[in-house]
Amino acid sequence: MERSDRQNTPSIVSLTSYPHPIFIIGFMGSGKTTLGKKLSKIAKIPFIDLDQHIVDTSGMSISDYFKLYGEEGFRRLEEQILKSIPTDTCAIVSTGGGAPCFSDNMTWMNGNGLTLYLNLPPKALQSRLISSDKTTRPLLSTMNDDELLDYIEDKLKSRSAFYEKAKININPLRLSPQDILEILTKEIQSR
Ligand code: S3P
Repeated sequence: MERSDRQNTPSIVSLTSYPHPIFIIGFMGSGKTTLGKKLSKIAKIPFIDLDQHIVDTSGMSISDYFKLYGEEGFRRLEEQILKSIPTDTCAIVSTGGGAPCFSDNMTWMNGNGLTLYLNLPPKALQSRLISSDKTTRPLLSTMNDDELLDYIEDKLKSRSAFYEKAKININPLRLSPQDILEILTKEIQSR
């Protein structure tokens, strides 16, 4: 079967009837927003980008918010906006890399929807972040490439415990968006 034909299979249709959000979690640079947009388009489900939601609500960039209110202030707003997402309707939600690791956010996401962890090794994250615009990520903006790898390895040691609470844990580099939709659908059908 061609990839485009598979978009109309019954398994994909059942994903749209899942009445809760699907949260994509993972480290910065793991591709949460890019994948979220693609899944949303293929499955015809609304897409919510948590960081963009924060920018729209606060009226300032994430970097400016960090400068003005510090990381603590940012985490408070992040939690508030995460928990304002409707939990009785399907949407693909891409979260910021730190969102699952603060307060009870990970437990809340697991209790109110389906969680998908994009699990990439540190080296892959480093090379993807080097080729991205680091100025939009206040936690990384001043690091050189070696410091970046040290930071990723160090942060993953503490963050993995949260990320690994996700219901689905995949390495997205070996999977197409269509494959990931099928994994999500199977999980939903098994519930
Ligand atoms: C952060 C990740 C960022 C953004 C903020 C903090 C983190 O989102 O929420 O800069 O703590 O990992 P992305 O993962 O989308 O880059």
